[in-house]
Amino acid sequence: MITLQFNITNIHNTIHTTSPPSPTQSTVAQHQPIMATSDLPPKMRAWTLTSAGLTLSPSHPLPGSAPPTASSATTQSPPTITGNNLLLKITHAALNPVDLHILRLFPHWLPFRRNPTPGFDFCGRVVGAGPDVDTNEFTVGDVVCGALGAGDVFWGKGSLAEYLLVSSSLVAKKPKTWGGLNGGNEVSGEEAVGLFGIAGQTAVLMAQTAGVSSDADWKGKRCLVNGASGGVGSILTQILKGKGAEVWGTTGSAEGEELVTQCGGKVVNYKDHHPVTAHLAELFGEDKLDFIFDCAGSQDMFSQSPGYLKKEGKFISIAGGPSQGVVPYVKNKLRPVWLGRTPREFELLLLIPGKKTVREVGRLVEEGFIERGLVDGGVWEMEELVKAYERLGSGRAKGKVVIRVGE
Ligand SMILES: NC(=O)c1ccc[n+]([C@@H]2O[C@H](COP(=O)([O-])OP(=O)(O)OC[C@H]3O[C@@H](n4cnc5c(N)ncnc54)[C@H](OP(=O)(O)O)[C@@H]3O)[C@@H](O)[C@H]2O)c1
Repeated sequence: MITLQFNITNIHNTIHTTSPPSPTQSTVAQHQPIMATSDLPPKMRAWTLTSAGLTLSPSHPLPGSAPPTASSATTQSPPTITGNNLLLKITHAALNPVDLHILRLFPHWLPFRRNPTPGFDFCGRVVGAGPDVDTNEFTVGDVVCGALGAGDVFWGKGSLAEYLLVSSSLVAKKPKTWGGLNGGNEVSGEEAVGLFGIAGQTAVLMAQTAGVSSDADWKGKRCLVNGASGGVGSILTQILKGKGAEVWGTTGSAEGEELVTQCGGKVVNYKDHHPVTAHLAELFGEDKLDFIFDCAGSQDMFSQSPGYLKKEGKFISIAGGPSQGVVPYVKNKLRPVWLGRTPREFELLLLIPGKKTVREVGRLVEEGFIERGLVDGGVWEMEELVKAYERLGSGRAKGKVVIRVGE
Protein backbone atom coordinates (compact mmCIF):
# COMPACT_ATOMS: atom_id res chain seq x y z
CA MET A 1 0.00 0.00 0.00
CA ILE A 2 1.49 3.36 -1.00
CA THR A 3 1.11 6.27 1.35
CA LEU A 4 2.08 9.16 -0.88
CA GLN A 5 0.19 12.24 0.12
CA PHE A 6 -1.55 14.12 -2.64
CA ASN A 7 -2.28 17.80 -2.34
CA ILE A 8 -5.20 18.23 -4.72
CA THR A 9 -5.75 21.86 -3.78
CA ASN A 10 -2.52 22.76 -5.52
CA ILE A 11 -3.68 21.58 -8.93
CA HIS A 12 -4.46 24.17 -11.56
CA ASN A 13 -4.68 22.91 -15.06
CA THR A 14 -3.99 26.13 -16.89
CA ILE A 15 -0.60 26.99 -18.27
CA HIS A 16 0.26 30.69 -18.00
CA THR A 17 0.00 32.10 -21.49
CA THR A 18 1.59 35.51 -21.29
CA SER A 19 3.80 36.65 -24.14
CA PRO A 20 6.34 34.00 -25.11
CA PRO A 21 10.07 34.56 -24.82
CA SER A 22 11.73 35.41 -28.10
CA PRO A 23 13.50 32.49 -29.70
CA THR A 24 17.26 32.74 -29.57
CA GLN A 25 17.75 31.36 -33.08
CA SER A 26 15.41 30.15 -35.78
CA THR A 27 17.79 28.39 -38.11
CA VAL A 28 19.62 25.15 -37.55
CA ALA A 29 23.39 25.50 -37.71
CA GLN A 30 26.11 23.39 -36.17
CA HIS A 31 27.82 24.89 -33.10
CA GLN A 32 25.00 27.43 -32.77
CA PRO A 33 22.12 27.07 -30.35
CA ILE A 34 18.97 26.07 -32.18
CA MET A 35 15.57 26.98 -30.86
CA ALA A 36 12.12 26.34 -32.21
CA THR A 37 10.01 29.31 -33.09
CA SER A 38 7.16 27.70 -31.21
CA ASP A 39 5.92 29.71 -28.26
CA LEU A 40 7.32 28.71 -24.93
CA PRO A 41 5.24 29.59 -21.91
CA PRO A 42 7.07 31.37 -19.05
CA LYS A 43 6.22 28.55 -16.63
CA MET A 44 5.23 24.90 -16.87
CA ARG A 45 3.25 22.28 -14.99
CA ALA A 46 5.37 19.71 -13.13
CA TRP A 47 4.91 17.24 -10.30
CA THR A 48 7.09 17.93 -7.29
CA LEU A 49 7.57 16.24 -3.95
CA THR A 50 6.91 18.77 -1.20
CA SER A 51 6.15 18.60 2.50
CA ALA A 52 2.50 18.14 1.46
CA GLY A 53 3.33 15.05 -0.60
CA LEU A 54 3.29 14.88 -4.41
CA THR A 55 1.98 18.18 -5.70
CA LEU A 56 1.17 19.27 -9.25
CA SER A 57 2.58 22.76 -9.52
CA PRO A 58 1.20 25.02 -12.24
CA SER A 59 4.12 27.42 -12.06
CA HIS A 60 7.32 25.44 -12.19
CA PRO A 61 10.22 27.33 -13.85
CA LEU A 62 11.14 26.09 -17.31
CA PRO A 63 14.35 24.04 -17.24
CA GLY A 64 17.34 26.24 -18.06
CA SER A 65 15.47 29.42 -17.08
CA ALA A 66 17.32 31.93 -14.94
CA PRO A 67 15.59 32.24 -11.55
CA PRO A 68 13.55 35.46 -11.30
CA THR A 69 15.38 38.31 -9.57
CA ALA A 70 13.79 40.59 -6.96
CA SER A 71 13.08 43.16 -9.65
CA SER A 72 11.51 40.64 -12.06
CA ALA A 73 9.71 38.36 -9.66
CA THR A 74 6.94 37.45 -12.09
CA THR A 75 8.93 37.11 -15.29
CA GLN A 76 11.22 34.32 -16.44
CA SER A 77 14.10 34.60 -18.84
CA PRO A 78 13.95 32.23 -21.80
CA PRO A 79 15.72 28.91 -21.20
CA THR A 80 19.43 28.75 -21.91
CA ILE A 81 20.23 25.46 -23.57
CA THR A 82 23.86 24.59 -23.13
CA GLY A 83 26.22 21.89 -24.39
CA ASN A 84 24.71 18.88 -26.09
CA ASN A 85 21.35 19.20 -24.33
CA LEU A 86 17.94 19.10 -25.94
CA LEU A 87 14.91 20.95 -24.61
CA LEU A 88 11.90 18.65 -24.99
CA LYS A 89 8.19 19.31 -24.75
CA ILE A 90 7.09 16.09 -23.07
CA THR A 91 4.07 14.17 -24.37
CA HIS A 92 4.35 11.01 -22.23
CA ALA A 93 6.17 9.72 -19.17
CA ALA A 94 6.22 6.10 -17.96
CA LEU A 95 6.58 5.00 -14.34
CA ASN A 96 9.06 2.50 -12.90
CA PRO A 97 9.38 0.74 -9.52
CA VAL A 98 12.63 2.70 -8.98
CA ASP A 99 10.58 5.97 -8.89
CA LEU A 100 8.83 4.64 -5.80
CA HIS A 101 12.10 3.61 -4.13
CA ILE A 102 13.49 7.13 -4.67
CA LEU A 103 10.27 8.84 -3.49
CA ARG A 104 10.25 6.71 -0.35
CA LEU A 105 13.95 6.80 0.48
CA PHE A 106 15.00 10.36 -0.37
CA PRO A 107 12.98 13.17 1.23
CA HIS A 108 12.08 16.40 -0.57
CA TRP A 109 14.05 18.60 1.82
CA LEU A 110 17.52 17.23 1.13
CA PRO A 111 19.55 20.29 0.09
CA PHE A 112 20.62 18.78 -3.23
CA ARG A 113 17.08 17.78 -4.26
CA ARG A 114 14.78 20.43 -2.90
CA ASN A 115 11.21 19.89 -4.21
CA PRO A 116 12.27 17.22 -6.70
CA THR A 117 10.28 16.13 -9.76
CA PRO A 118 10.00 12.32 -10.11
CA GLY A 119 10.12 10.19 -13.26
CA PHE A 120 12.81 8.64 -15.47
CA ASP A 121 11.09 7.81 -18.78
CA PHE A 122 10.09 10.42 -21.33
CA CYS A 123 8.82 10.85 -24.87
CA GLY A 124 8.62 14.34 -26.31
CA ARG A 125 9.26 16.76 -29.16
CA VAL A 126 12.54 18.67 -29.51
CA VAL A 127 11.87 22.41 -29.15
CA GLY A 128 15.45 23.54 -28.69
CA ALA A 129 19.01 22.27 -28.76
CA GLY A 130 22.35 23.36 -27.33
CA PRO A 131 25.35 24.40 -29.44
CA ASP A 132 27.08 21.01 -29.26
CA VAL A 133 24.14 18.91 -30.45
CA ASP A 134 24.89 17.11 -33.70
CA THR A 135 22.29 18.65 -35.99
CA ASN A 136 22.64 15.73 -38.40
CA GLU A 137 21.23 13.62 -35.62
CA PHE A 138 18.55 15.76 -33.95
CA THR A 139 16.66 18.83 -34.97
CA VAL A 140 13.69 20.84 -33.80
CA GLY A 141 10.45 18.92 -34.28
CA ASP A 142 11.97 15.42 -33.87
CA VAL A 143 10.08 13.15 -31.50
CA VAL A 144 12.55 11.43 -29.17
CA CYS A 145 12.39 9.09 -26.19
CA GLY A 146 14.69 7.79 -23.47
CA ALA A 147 15.36 7.62 -19.75
CA LEU A 148 17.12 10.08 -17.47
CA GLY A 149 20.18 8.95 -15.53
CA ALA A 150 19.86 8.16 -11.82
CA GLY A 151 21.99 11.22 -10.99
CA ASP A 152 19.49 13.53 -12.72
CA VAL A 153 16.55 12.10 -10.80
CA PHE A 154 18.37 12.02 -7.42
CA TRP A 155 19.12 15.69 -7.97
CA GLY A 156 15.44 16.37 -8.54
CA LYS A 157 15.08 16.58 -12.32
CA GLY A 158 12.31 14.24 -13.44
CA SER A 159 10.24 13.54 -16.54
CA LEU A 160 6.84 14.36 -14.98
CA ALA A 161 7.09 17.92 -16.23
CA GLU A 162 5.94 19.64 -19.41
CA TYR A 163 9.48 20.56 -20.47
CA LEU A 164 12.69 18.63 -19.87
CA LEU A 165 16.31 19.47 -20.61
CA VAL A 166 18.17 16.27 -21.38
CA SER A 167 21.52 15.24 -22.83
CA SER A 168 21.20 14.17 -26.47
CA SER A 169 23.29 11.11 -25.56
CA LEU A 170 20.33 9.75 -23.55
CA VAL A 171 17.76 9.84 -26.35
CA ALA A 172 16.82 8.05 -29.54
CA LYS A 173 14.40 9.19 -32.22
CA LYS A 174 11.05 7.49 -31.92
CA PRO A 175 10.63 5.27 -34.99
CA LYS A 176 7.60 6.35 -37.02
CA THR A 177 6.42 2.83 -37.76
CA TRP A 178 6.89 -0.72 -36.49
CA GLY A 179 8.98 -3.22 -38.46
CA GLY A 180 8.18 -6.95 -38.70
CA LEU A 181 4.65 -8.31 -38.57
CA ASN A 182 3.25 -5.05 -37.26
CA GLY A 183 5.13 -3.33 -40.12
CA GLY A 184 3.86 0.03 -41.33
CA ASN A 185 1.67 0.75 -38.31
CA GLU A 186 2.45 3.94 -36.43
CA VAL A 187 4.49 3.74 -33.20
CA SER A 188 2.64 6.00 -30.77
CA GLY A 189 4.28 7.99 -27.98
CA GLU A 190 2.39 6.01 -25.34
CA GLU A 191 3.75 2.72 -26.72
CA ALA A 192 7.27 4.06 -27.21
CA VAL A 193 7.82 5.73 -23.84
CA GLY A 194 8.24 2.50 -21.84
CA LEU A 195 10.14 0.71 -24.59
CA PHE A 196 12.86 3.38 -24.76
CA GLY A 197 12.73 4.05 -21.02
CA ILE A 198 14.15 2.10 -18.08
CA ALA A 199 12.14 -1.07 -18.82
CA GLY A 200 13.09 -1.39 -22.49
CA GLN A 201 16.73 -0.51 -21.92
CA THR A 202 16.93 -2.99 -19.03
CA ALA A 203 15.44 -5.70 -21.25
CA VAL A 204 18.12 -4.92 -23.85
CA LEU A 205 20.86 -5.08 -21.20
CA MET A 206 19.57 -8.44 -19.93
CA ALA A 207 19.57 -9.91 -23.43
CA GLN A 208 23.06 -8.52 -24.10
CA THR A 209 24.37 -9.97 -20.81
CA ALA A 210 23.48 -13.46 -22.02
CA GLY A 211 26.52 -13.09 -24.31
CA VAL A 212 24.88 -14.57 -27.42
CA SER A 213 27.03 -13.17 -30.22
CA SER A 214 24.45 -12.38 -32.91
CA ASP A 215 20.68 -12.15 -33.37
CA ALA A 216 20.79 -15.35 -35.42
CA ASP A 217 22.56 -17.28 -32.65
CA TRP A 218 19.49 -16.94 -30.41
CA LYS A 219 17.59 -19.37 -32.61
CA GLY A 220 16.43 -22.33 -30.52
CA LYS A 221 17.87 -21.04 -27.22
CA ARG A 222 15.59 -22.07 -24.35
CA CYS A 223 14.77 -19.15 -22.05
CA LEU A 224 12.59 -18.52 -19.02
CA VAL A 225 11.52 -14.98 -18.12
CA ASN A 226 10.40 -14.78 -14.49
CA GLY A 227 7.92 -11.87 -14.17
CA ALA A 228 7.15 -11.87 -17.90
CA SER A 229 4.01 -9.74 -17.71
CA GLY A 230 5.64 -6.68 -16.08
CA GLY A 231 7.25 -3.67 -17.71
CA VAL A 232 10.67 -5.27 -18.24
CA GLY A 233 9.49 -8.87 -18.71
CA SER A 234 6.96 -8.07 -21.44
CA ILE A 235 9.64 -6.33 -23.54
CA LEU A 236 12.32 -8.95 -22.88
CA THR A 237 9.95 -11.78 -23.85
CA GLN A 238 9.35 -10.05 -27.20
CA ILE A 239 13.06 -9.45 -27.84
CA LEU A 240 14.01 -13.08 -27.14
CA LYS A 241 11.11 -14.45 -29.15
CA GLY A 242 11.81 -11.99 -31.98
CA LYS A 243 15.38 -13.30 -32.18
CA GLY A 244 14.19 -16.88 -32.49
CA ALA A 245 14.51 -18.18 -28.91
CA GLU A 246 11.96 -20.50 -27.29
CA VAL A 247 10.54 -18.45 -24.42
CA TRP A 248 8.51 -19.36 -21.35
CA GLY A 249 7.22 -16.62 -19.06
CA THR A 250 5.92 -16.79 -15.50
CA THR A 251 2.83 -14.92 -14.43
CA GLY A 252 0.12 -15.44 -11.82
CA SER A 253 -3.01 -14.03 -13.44
CA ALA A 254 -5.33 -14.45 -16.42
CA GLU A 255 -4.45 -10.97 -17.78
CA GLY A 256 -0.78 -11.85 -17.38
CA GLU A 257 -1.26 -15.10 -19.31
CA GLU A 258 -2.89 -13.17 -22.15
CA LEU A 259 -0.06 -10.65 -22.23
CA VAL A 260 2.74 -13.27 -22.12
CA THR A 261 1.07 -15.08 -25.02
CA GLN A 262 0.76 -11.80 -26.96
CA CYS A 263 4.50 -11.28 -26.47
CA GLY A 264 5.22 -14.71 -27.96
CA GLY A 265 5.93 -16.56 -24.70
CA LYS A 266 4.56 -19.86 -23.38
CA VAL A 267 2.88 -19.44 -20.02
CA VAL A 268 4.02 -20.86 -16.68
CA ASN A 269 1.42 -19.82 -14.11
CA TYR A 270 3.19 -19.72 -10.75
CA LYS A 271 -0.11 -19.76 -8.88
CA ASP A 272 -1.09 -23.11 -10.41
CA HIS A 273 2.10 -24.84 -9.25
CA HIS A 274 3.55 -24.99 -5.72
CA PRO A 275 6.44 -24.68 -5.59
CA VAL A 276 6.92 -23.38 -9.11
CA THR A 277 10.55 -24.61 -9.02
CA ALA A 278 9.33 -28.25 -8.78
CA HIS A 279 7.14 -27.60 -11.84
CA LEU A 280 10.15 -26.12 -13.69
CA ALA A 281 12.15 -29.26 -12.88
CA GLU A 282 9.31 -31.35 -14.38
CA LEU A 283 9.10 -29.16 -17.48
CA PHE A 284 12.81 -28.72 -18.14
CA GLY A 285 14.56 -31.51 -16.21
CA GLU A 286 15.19 -33.54 -19.39
CA ASP A 287 15.93 -30.66 -21.76
CA LYS A 288 17.30 -27.85 -19.64
CA LEU A 289 17.12 -24.10 -20.15
CA ASP A 290 19.97 -21.99 -21.54
CA PHE A 291 19.00 -18.83 -19.68
CA ILE A 292 16.77 -17.69 -16.85
CA PHE A 293 16.02 -13.97 -16.75
CA ASP A 294 14.65 -13.00 -13.34
CA CYS A 295 12.56 -9.81 -13.33
CA ALA A 296 10.63 -10.76 -10.18
CA GLY A 297 13.40 -11.54 -7.69
CA SER A 298 13.31 -15.20 -6.69
CA GLN A 299 16.22 -16.58 -4.66
CA ASP A 300 14.56 -19.98 -4.66
CA MET A 301 14.47 -20.03 -8.46
CA PHE A 302 18.27 -19.57 -8.50
CA SER A 303 18.99 -21.99 -5.64
CA GLN A 304 16.99 -24.78 -7.33
CA SER A 305 18.23 -23.93 -10.84
CA PRO A 306 20.52 -27.00 -11.34
CA GLY A 307 17.25 -28.93 -11.75
CA TYR A 308 16.27 -26.98 -14.88
CA LEU A 309 19.16 -24.72 -16.02
CA LYS A 310 22.06 -26.15 -18.05
CA LYS A 311 25.46 -26.37 -16.34
CA GLU A 312 26.83 -23.72 -18.70
CA GLY A 313 23.55 -21.74 -18.52
CA LYS A 314 23.19 -18.27 -16.98
CA PHE A 315 20.81 -16.85 -14.40
CA ILE A 316 20.45 -13.11 -15.05
CA SER A 317 18.65 -11.03 -12.43
CA ILE A 318 17.65 -7.38 -12.11
CA ALA A 319 15.65 -7.56 -8.90
CA GLY A 320 17.26 -6.07 -5.82
CA GLY A 321 18.54 -2.49 -5.94
CA PRO A 322 22.13 -1.57 -5.07
CA SER A 323 21.53 -2.16 -1.33
CA GLN A 324 19.16 -5.16 -1.37
CA GLY A 325 21.30 -6.55 -4.19
CA VAL A 326 24.42 -6.88 -2.03
CA VAL A 327 23.14 -10.03 -0.32
CA PRO A 328 22.22 -11.98 -3.48
CA TYR A 329 25.41 -10.74 -5.15
CA VAL A 330 27.66 -12.05 -2.39
CA LYS A 331 25.62 -15.22 -1.86
CA ASN A 332 25.08 -16.17 -5.49
CA LYS A 333 28.16 -14.83 -7.23
CA LEU A 334 31.10 -14.34 -4.86
CA ARG A 335 30.70 -17.27 -2.46
CA PRO A 336 32.68 -20.37 -3.52
CA VAL A 337 30.68 -23.45 -4.53
CA TRP A 338 32.33 -25.45 -1.71
CA LEU A 339 30.75 -22.99 0.74
CA GLY A 340 27.30 -23.65 -0.69
CA ARG A 341 26.94 -21.40 -3.73
CA THR A 342 24.60 -22.79 -6.37
CA PRO A 343 26.84 -24.07 -9.19
CA ARG A 344 25.37 -21.87 -11.93
CA GLU A 345 26.54 -18.51 -13.33
CA PHE A 346 24.70 -15.62 -11.67
CA GLU A 347 24.58 -12.00 -12.91
CA LEU A 348 22.91 -9.13 -11.07
CA LEU A 349 22.49 -6.07 -13.29
CA LEU A 350 21.99 -2.38 -12.69
CA LEU A 351 20.98 -0.36 -15.75
CA ILE A 352 22.76 2.91 -16.44
CA PRO A 353 20.61 4.40 -19.22
CA GLY A 354 22.69 5.50 -22.20
CA LYS A 355 23.17 5.87 -25.90
CA LYS A 356 24.06 2.24 -26.57
CA THR A 357 20.96 0.75 -24.94
CA VAL A 358 18.43 3.41 -25.99
CA ARG A 359 19.48 3.23 -29.63
CA GLU A 360 19.48 -0.57 -29.58
CA VAL A 361 15.79 -0.37 -28.60
CA GLY A 362 15.26 1.75 -31.75
CA ARG A 363 16.97 -0.88 -33.89
CA LEU A 364 14.92 -3.69 -32.35
CA VAL A 365 11.67 -1.81 -33.06
CA GLU A 366 12.66 -0.86 -36.62
CA GLU A 367 13.84 -4.38 -37.47
CA GLY A 368 10.71 -5.99 -36.04
CA PHE A 369 12.21 -7.78 -32.99
CA ILE A 370 9.93 -5.76 -30.69
CA GLU A 371 6.42 -5.60 -32.11
CA ARG A 372 4.40 -3.71 -29.52
CA GLY A 373 4.64 -1.43 -26.52
CA LEU A 374 2.25 -2.76 -23.90
CA VAL A 375 0.44 -0.19 -21.79
CA ASP A 376 -1.22 -1.28 -18.53
CA GLY A 377 -4.96 -0.49 -18.72
CA GLY A 378 -5.22 2.94 -20.33
CA VAL A 379 -3.00 6.00 -20.34
CA TRP A 380 -3.34 8.02 -17.12
CA GLU A 381 -3.76 11.80 -17.27
CA MET A 382 -1.17 14.04 -15.60
CA GLU A 383 -3.56 14.81 -12.71
CA GLU A 384 -3.96 11.06 -11.98
CA LEU A 385 -0.31 10.44 -11.11
CA VAL A 386 -0.83 9.31 -7.53
CA LYS A 387 -3.40 6.69 -8.61
CA ALA A 388 -1.03 5.59 -11.36
CA TYR A 389 1.78 5.17 -8.80
CA GLU A 390 -0.60 3.15 -6.62
CA ARG A 391 -1.28 0.86 -9.56
CA LEU A 392 2.46 0.43 -10.19
CA GLY A 393 3.08 -0.11 -6.46
CA SER A 394 0.51 -2.92 -6.39
CA GLY A 395 3.13 -5.02 -8.24
CA ARG A 396 0.38 -6.24 -10.59
CA ALA A 397 0.78 -3.84 -13.56
CA LYS A 398 0.66 -5.56 -16.94
CA GLY A 399 3.12 -3.83 -19.27
CA LYS A 400 3.93 -0.16 -18.61
CA VAL A 401 2.08 2.41 -16.53
CA VAL A 402 2.00 5.51 -18.77
CA ILE A 403 1.10 9.16 -18.08
CA ARG A 404 -0.01 11.69 -20.71
CA VAL A 405 1.95 14.84 -19.84
CA GLY A 406 1.04 17.07 -22.78
CA GLU A 407 0.21 17.24 -26.48
N1 LIG B 1 18.48 -3.58 -11.87
C1 LIG B 1 17.93 -2.70 -12.71
O1 LIG B 1 18.63 -1.94 -13.39
C2 LIG B 1 16.44 -2.68 -12.85
C3 LIG B 1 15.84 -2.00 -13.91
C4 LIG B 1 14.46 -2.05 -14.04
C5 LIG B 1 13.69 -2.73 -13.10
N2 LIG B 1 14.31 -3.34 -12.05
C6 LIG B 1 13.54 -4.11 -11.05
O2 LIG B 1 12.98 -5.22 -11.75
C7 LIG B 1 11.72 -5.56 -11.22
C8 LIG B 1 10.68 -5.59 -12.33
O3 LIG B 1 10.50 -4.29 -12.86
P1 LIG B 1 9.21 -3.98 -13.75
O4 LIG B 1 9.30 -2.57 -14.19
O5 LIG B 1 9.04 -5.04 -14.78
O6 LIG B 1 8.08 -4.14 -12.63
P2 LIG B 1 6.49 -4.18 -12.80
O7 LIG B 1 6.09 -3.73 -14.15
O8 LIG B 1 5.90 -3.51 -11.62
O9 LIG B 1 6.17 -5.76 -12.65
C9 LIG B 1 4.87 -6.12 -12.35
C10 LIG B 1 4.65 -7.54 -12.81
O10 LIG B 1 5.39 -8.42 -11.97
C11 LIG B 1 4.68 -9.67 -11.97
N3 LIG B 1 5.00 -10.41 -10.75
C12 LIG B 1 4.91 -9.98 -9.48
N4 LIG B 1 5.34 -10.94 -8.64
C13 LIG B 1 5.71 -12.00 -9.41
C14 LIG B 1 6.26 -13.29 -9.15
N5 LIG B 1 6.49 -13.69 -7.91
N6 LIG B 1 6.52 -14.09 -10.19
C15 LIG B 1 6.29 -13.70 -11.45
N7 LIG B 1 5.78 -12.50 -11.78
C16 LIG B 1 5.50 -11.66 -10.77
C17 LIG B 1 3.22 -9.26 -11.99
O11 LIG B 1 2.55 -10.27 -12.73
P3 LIG B 1 1.46 -11.23 -12.04
O12 LIG B 1 0.45 -10.31 -11.41
O13 LIG B 1 0.92 -12.01 -13.17
O14 LIG B 1 2.22 -12.05 -11.05
C18 LIG B 1 3.20 -7.95 -12.76
O15 LIG B 1 2.76 -8.11 -14.09
C19 LIG B 1 11.43 -4.52 -10.11
O16 LIG B 1 11.85 -5.08 -8.89
C20 LIG B 1 12.35 -3.36 -10.48
O17 LIG B 1 12.70 -2.58 -9.34
C21 LIG B 1 15.66 -3.34 -11.89
